Amino acid sequence: MDENIESVLHEERVFPPPEDFVKKARITPERYKQLKQQADEDYEGFWAERAREEIDWETPFNITLDRSEAPHYHWFSDGRLNVSYNCLDRHLSERGDKTAIIFEGEPGDIQKYTYKELHAAVSQFANALKAQGIGKGDRVVIYMPMVPEAVIAMQACARVGAIHSVVFGGFSAEALKDRVNDAQAKMIITADGGHRGGRIIELKAAVDKAIEHGTPTVERVIVFERTKHGVAMSPERDITWAEAIADQPMECEPEWVDAEHPLFLLYTSGSTGKPKGIQHACGGYLLGAILTNKWVFDLQDEDVFWCTADVGWITGHTYTAYGPLAVGAAQVMYEGAPTVPDGGRFWKVCQDHGVSVFYTAPTAIRALMKLGDEIPKSYDLSKLRLLGSVGEPINPEAWMWYYRVIGQERCPITDTWWQTETGAHMIAPIPGAVPTKPGSCTLPLPGIMADVVDEHGEPIQDANHGGYLVIKEPWPSMLRTVWGNDERYRKTYWDMFDGRYYLSGDSARKDEDGYFWIMGRIDDVLNVSGHRLGTMEIESALVAHERVAEAAVVGRPHDVKGEAIVAYVILKEARPTGAAADEVAKTLRAWVAEEIGPIAKPDEIRFVEGLPKTRSGKIMRRLLRTIAKGETISSDTSTLENEEIIKQLQGKA
Ligand code: WTA
Repeated sequence: MDENIESVLHEERVFPPPEDFVKKARITPERYKQLKQQADEDYEGFWAERAREEIDWETPFNITLDRSEAPHYHWFSDGRLNVSYNCLDRHLSERGDKTAIIFEGEPGDIQKYTYKELHAAVSQFANALKAQGIGKGDRVVIYMPMVPEAVIAMQACARVGAIHSVVFGGFSAEALKDRVNDAQAKMIITADGGHRGGRIIELKAAVDKAIEHGTPTVERVIVFERTKHGVAMSPERDITWAEAIADQPMECEPEWVDAEHPLFLLYTSGSTGKPKGIQHACGGYLLGAILTNKWVFDLQDEDVFWCTADVGWITGHTYTAYGPLAVGAAQVMYEGAPTVPDGGRFWKVCQDHGVSVFYTAPTAIRALMKLGDEIPKSYDLSKLRLLGSVGEPINPEAWMWYYRVIGQERCPITDTWWQTETGAHMIAPIPGAVPTKPGSCTLPLPGIMADVVDEHGEPIQDANHGGYLVIKEPWPSMLRTVWGNDERYRKTYWDMFDGRYYLSGDSARKDEDGYFWIMGRIDDVLNVSGHRLGTMEIESALVAHERVAEAAVVGRPHDVKGEAIVAYVILKEARPTGAAADEVAKTLRAWVAEEIGPIAKPDEIRFVEGLPKTRSGKIMRRLLRTIAKGETISSDTSTLENEEIIKQLQGKA
């Protein structure tokens, strides 16, 4: 295993749960102990009890865990439920008039939905879906800005048993097309545009382009009018949201489905050029979403929760579209960028809407930290009681700033490790029960059998020794497969340890207290601003350009984004230098934005005449990473033709 998996981080500070917090917490230290003990002693009984407590079943289940088709595990498989019913209908009698969503648009417009209103809007849109021929099992792609209608569309799909696949609005028409085709979606739900960074994101135009480039399964496009800036509509194919819901009743009987019925697909990057459709199941996913919103975010009736993630990512699914609603919480949704009109926007939103539990990514924390303490200090953040972090390891410096300046040394910080594949938090401090350490996601949640093992699958006994982060037992909110590709599911997640353990793709170490410290990916996946990007995906986008012969992409540490993207490119023409190189680099960056999306644009492109390869022809990424970081090369470079190439790789010639 990589030598860089050896850990260098040392952090001594420990923060016990604040007393005031513990007094009111859903999970006290005693309750935590009980849960852990029950999960260890009676694994299936533990999960069965949770699923009976937390979910309203139309038909109760008898089978808790079916291992007969492992590694395709089935949970609660003879039970029937509806996720939208569990998020909405069941709250109506107790908290129908409670605010469910407080929406703030980037331009400053505000809109609120009570649970009753949200229930009506979802039911009405569900009827619209049915009227357009969408039913159980149909795939619907959602390509929307961060507006309540995105959540309404997701919930409406769940209500009729359709399988949604949300595509992040920052992805390009090409990326959208690939996802639509892989899922064979019948419908796309989009908007004319969205407000982001002071500009309009042209969502409908991208949908038109994707369809023009070939999406044979798409029959209908529903367009929510958000920006009202006038977009082209195809009369045969497109209808507006308003037209779709006109005359539709606001009552819609939920479609009861088996617990294993797919709830959604969400495409994520892996080590090949093609993103994979991670498939989640209704029952298990819902349970993971409910438990973690209660355990890790301690959401209670008086809380106002805000998760800043876009619904295009798993975080926006579990901690905006489903989880907070399933536990009956009030939550904020914000459409735009953190720096519009200035770097105080997040703190202003927290102040104006009385946010008490706030969840964001280290990249945002670092970017806002750079702007200084004065900005957050000029807002009233006294309602905050808990802060969360997700997406990448949070460096202790950012953790401490978050704790000191935003949380005013009053709020526990919960650093949550999980993945698109895991559906919900896996390793995270339960804030009223587990002491925190800056930079550690602490301990696995009750019922999550996480461990760090060596390449033979043996648990690593020595403290602070890095290894593979694995999960040793199936868990309810786990992915069920890769859409349409069971083989890829098995190969990617199970083959390494012969089907015994789920391979997360991350490396980690455990310290003397058994605390987990995530060290990064072990596969060819980059983490740029908390977003997963496959190096192969960017490489295949680059070589798809007519001027490019070969490309290799690696990450380099970046103080705000976590990782920056460095691309080594061999052109079919002579190697450009100076202004000519800048010109081609600009073209290629724009090209990658077209092929995947602006988030995948290389930060730096170095034109070279050769790439370091192993004898079998594999690109030596580790060497390239060393070079990209500007570190001295210690490994063997004899496969490189000449010194000149090294200089080119280093960007020195
Ligand atoms: C990384 C996002 C360290 C990790 C929820 C994982 C983290 C990948 C953390 C999943 C964290 C996520 N500490 N690393 N708290 N949270 N990661 O699928 O490498 O977009 O495998 O899910 O992000 O990214 P994904």
